[in-house]
Amino acid sequence: MAKNLVLYFSVYGTAKKTAEEIARQTGADLVEIEPVTPYDSDRGHYNALAKLAKKEHDEDARPAIKNEINIEPYDNIFIGYPMWWYTFPMILYTLFDRYDFSGKTIIPFNTHMGSGDGGTYETIAELEPNAKLLTGLPVEMHEAEAGQSTAIEKWLKDIGIL
Ligand SMILES: Cc1cc2nc3c(=O)[nH]c(=O)nc-3n(C[C@H](O)[C@H](O)[C@H](O)COP(=O)(O)O)c2cc1C
Repeated sequence: MAKNLVLYFSVYGTAKKTAEEIARQTGADLVEIEPVTPYDSDRGHYNALAKLAKKEHDEDARPAIKNEINIEPYDNIFIGYPMWWYTFPMILYTLFDRYDFSGKTIIPFNTHMGSGDGGTYETIAELEPNAKLLTGLPVEMHEAEAGQSTAIEKWLKDIGIL
């Protein structure tokens, strides 16, 4: 049987909630991508986070990841994140720099407030040319908060995981 891993980065908790639901439905292991320097998850401080994220983006930063992630045993690796400034958070570049997903199947998903996947699934295909990429799932933030078990189940069936 294929081994599944759900890897996710989340600050406000919506990509986390989606990740947990995917893991629940697939029986996958669940691992958070933890930054060395935590981001402020207080939504009242959005402007400060937006500014920091923009700075990291403009500087092509590679925010460090705290935890060691072992992707080796897994066949299918779900990778989830929020949209930040029309792309994924720069820590995802750190992930793709550090780990080689060659021979793995990557299944992306993301949360957003209108940008959809913003072309990030194509970016993943460019960064990991030797991985197989399945159709991803963009989830709007409020829908992610409401829980999307039916939509997630349909998607997992469509891509042949369930
Ligand atoms: C710094 C920052 C930048 C964002 N940029 C975008 C964007 O470009 N497009 C979009 O649709 N949503 C954008 N959002 C909204 C997030 O994608 C959305 O709130 C998401 O659900 C957050 O995921 P999380 O709860 O897992 O952190 C942005 C949010 C933040 C904090």
